[in-house]
Amino acid sequence: MYLDNSTKSKRLFKLDLRLQVCADMVKRGSKVADIGTDHAYLPIWLCKNNIACSAIASDIRREPLNSAKKHILQYDAEDFVTTRLSDGLKEFKTGECDCVIIAGMGGELIRNIILSADWVKNKDITLILQPMTKGEIVRKDLSAEGFDLIEEKSVMAMGKVYTVMKWIYSGNIRENDDFFNYMGLLVNDRSDTTQKYIDSLLHHLRNKYEGYKSPEILDLINKIAPYGSDIID
Ligand SMILES: C[S@@+](CC[C@H](N)C(=O)[O-])C[C@H]1O[C@@H](n2cnc3c(N)ncnc32)[C@H](O)[C@@H]1O
Repeated sequence: MYLDNSTKSKRLFKLDLRLQVCADMVKRGSKVADIGTDHAYLPIWLCKNNIACSAIASDIRREPLNSAKKHILQYDAEDFVTTRLSDGLKEFKTGECDCVIIAGMGGELIRNIILSADWVKNKDITLILQPMTKGEIVRKDLSAEGFDLIEEKSVMAMGKVYTVMKWIYSGNIRENDDFFNYMGLLVNDRSDTTQKYIDSLLHHLRNKYEGYKSPEILDLINKIAPYGSDIID
């Protein structure tokens, strides 16, 4: 985070690229819950830029929440951003938010948090999820519970490529094949960042295949390989 010199009077920071891609998926007027907020930069930025009308910055630990509270005061956001100690969505109730953001956690934890809060199975609630690992588990298990993946973007952060996904519940239960679980909507994206995402995915799967020699992994590699940059078409 750093101060934006062009808006020094407001002294608001700029988000890093990973959080900016999450912010870009938030609909104007949303009531946001940022789960695992840590510093609360995202909810503060969303409210100060009039994108979210309110936000709950939530974390499972008191220490990050104290840092969140400090930043909320520092950037005069206390009228819009409140804090909450909560393990995932356990301390939230229906109607408190219509946009849940979970960024910077592993895919399994994100999946567990979403699937243990039945009230997010609502077509009026948007989920913006940015797993640091195991995006395939998020895609597989949310699809199997009736959520639709409606938007996905790749983003480079600290030398690695991550994915940011937008999901909305439709009730449409789907069992995806592994190709979709690993590639998601990035299959349609020709950006350099997504190319890096696919190359690193192939690298990961090839290493896994060296260990397990599983025919399923080989089949998946063969399906994804045409999208890798080592193939000249
Ligand atoms: C790496 S930080 C990510 C901060 C911010 N969301 C971002 O993407 O920059 C992960 C945060 O998630 C919190 N966390 C971990 N498990 C959680 C859970 N079950 N519920 C809520 N917060 C959790 C941690 O305390 C930590 O502050």
